Amino acid sequence: MHRKLYSSRNHPPLFYVKIRLTLLLCCLLNLTSAAFGQNPSPAPSTPPPPTETKEQRDARMGWWRDAKFGMFIHWGVYSVPAGFYQGKPVPSIGEWIMCNGKIPMAEYQKFPAQFNPTKFNAEEWVQIAQDAGVKYIVITAKHHDGFAMYHSTVSPFNIYDATPFKRDPLQELAEACRKHGIRLGFYYSQAQDWNHPGGAESKGSWDPAQAGDMDQYLKMIAVPQVKELLTNYGPDTPAVLWWDTPHGMTAERAALFQPVLALKPQLITNNRLGGGYKGDTETPEQHIPPKGYPGEDWETCMTINGTWGYKSNDTNWKSTETLLHNLIDIVSHGGNYLLNVGPTSEGIIPQPEVDRLKAVGDWLKVNGEAIYGAGATCFGDEAGAYSPKEKDKDGKPKFIVKWDWRCTTKPGKIYIHLFKWPATPFSLTGVPGTVTQAYLLADPAHKPLPIKQTGGNVTINLPAQAPDPIATVVCLETKS
Ligand code: GLC
Repeated sequence: MHRKLYSSRNHPPLFYVKIRLTLLLCCLLNLTSAAFGQNPSPAPSTPPPPTETKEQRDARMGWWRDAKFGMFIHWGVYSVPAGFYQGKPVPSIGEWIMCNGKIPMAEYQKFPAQFNPTKFNAEEWVQIAQDAGVKYIVITAKHHDGFAMYHSTVSPFNIYDATPFKRDPLQELAEACRKHGIRLGFYYSQAQDWNHPGGAESKGSWDPAQAGDMDQYLKMIAVPQVKELLTNYGPDTPAVLWWDTPHGMTAERAALFQPVLALKPQLITNNRLGGGYKGDTETPEQHIPPKGYPGEDWETCMTINGTWGYKSNDTNWKSTETLLHNLIDIVSHGGNYLLNVGPTSEGIIPQPEVDRLKAVGDWLKVNGEAIYGAGATCFGDEAGAYSPKEKDKDGKPKFIVKWDWRCTTKPGKIYIHLFKWPATPFSLTGVPGTVTQAYLLADPAHKPLPIKQTGGNVTINLPAQAPDPIATVVCLETKS
C-alpha cells in the first residue's frame, strides 16, 4: 500500500508536534477513563515466574546456543553526522551524538532529509555476514535517537517517511536473511527515545521539546512499534529482540510489552528490558567475563572499532587476531560473540570491517567445527588466573588473562586452540577420558599427531611451524 507522503518532510519540527498531540490526546483519554472507573487492573509490581519447562527453553534456545557468532549492526540516521556536529567532532560513540552534542530535536530532525543510503544492498550485507561465518544478525530497528529504521505507522520519524530513500531496509534484510539461512534479530531502544516526548525522561533531557510522560511514550510509541516489529516481518523474524538501557523501567512498565511479546513464543530476548524481567541472555558489553556465566546463556557484544554507530573519524579497528581470539575465548567460556559493524549513511559497511570479518570467516571455514555447537572448556585455568595482589577498578582481585591457548569441547572431542605456538611436545594435564587420536583441523587429511598419555597427562608432538599463526586447532578424539 502506498502511504500518503508525510507532508512535513521539509519541516521536521512538525514530527514532534504531531506526536505531542497524539500523546496529549491519549493522556486525556486516560484521565477520562480513570474518572469513570474504567482503568484496567494495575500491572504486577514484579514479573510473573516463567511458565516454560527446561526442555521447552532448551529447544527454543538451541539454534542460538549453537550459533556462537552473530553480527550486530548499528545503523541509523546518526550515520549522517557521523560523529561531527556543526563542523566539530562530538566525543564518544557515534549513535549518542544527539545526546552528547546536546542537539535540539528540531535540529536533529533535519538529518533524515540528508539520509539516502542508495548503496544499501541487503543481499550484499548478508553475503558479508555469510563470508564472516556469522549465523545471526541483530540490527538496530530504533536506537536512542528514536528514528525507526523501518516503515513504522506509529511515528513518521522513520526511514520510509522521513527520508528520500523510501524503502524499508528491515524488510529487505529479512528477505535476504531468510533466503540465505541467517537468523535476523531486532534491537529496540524501549526506554530511551530522544525524539519522542517522554522518551528522554529516564536519563535526562536537554531540550524542552522532549518533555513528556514516559508512560504515555511507552504506550503510544514503544509498545506499538515493538508490535509492528513482531508482526510485520514474517513468522521467523525477528528471531531475537534486543532491548537496551532499561533506565526508568519498572515491572509495571515492562509488563506493557508482555502481550506483544507473547505473539512470538519462540523469540529470544536479552536481559535489558528492565523491571526485573531477566530475559534469556546476559549481555556483557565490550568485555569478556573471565569465567563466563556458568549455567546461563550469555553474549558479549563488542565494537569492531571504538563506536557502534558509524563515525567517520574512528579508524581504530581491532586486528583480525584480536577478533578471533575474542571469539575463541568467548566460546571457551560458553558464550556467544555479537560483533558490531557500523554502516555509513550511504548504506555501506566500511571496507576495513568487511576485510576483518572475511579473515575471521576464512578461519572458521577451516576450524568452524571447534566453534559452532561447541561447549565450554573441560579444563578451566588456561585463560588465566586472579592475581593475589592486583585489584581491578572495583577493588576485586584482577584477572590476569593469558593468551596461550583455549579449549572448546563436543561429545568425544576436545579442541585445543593454540594462540602461541608452543615448544613441542605440548603437554596438557587433567585431560578427561582416553585420547584415541589427535590431529590438526588445518590438515584436511587429519594425519595423526604422535601422542603419549599417562592418566590425565597428555603430550602431543606438533609440527615445527604453526599452520595458522593466529590460532591453530588440535582436535583430540576421546573415549571415556
Ligand atoms: C549501550 C549504548 C548503545 C549501544 C549498546 C550496545 O548500551 O547505549 O549505544 O547500542 O550499548 O550494547
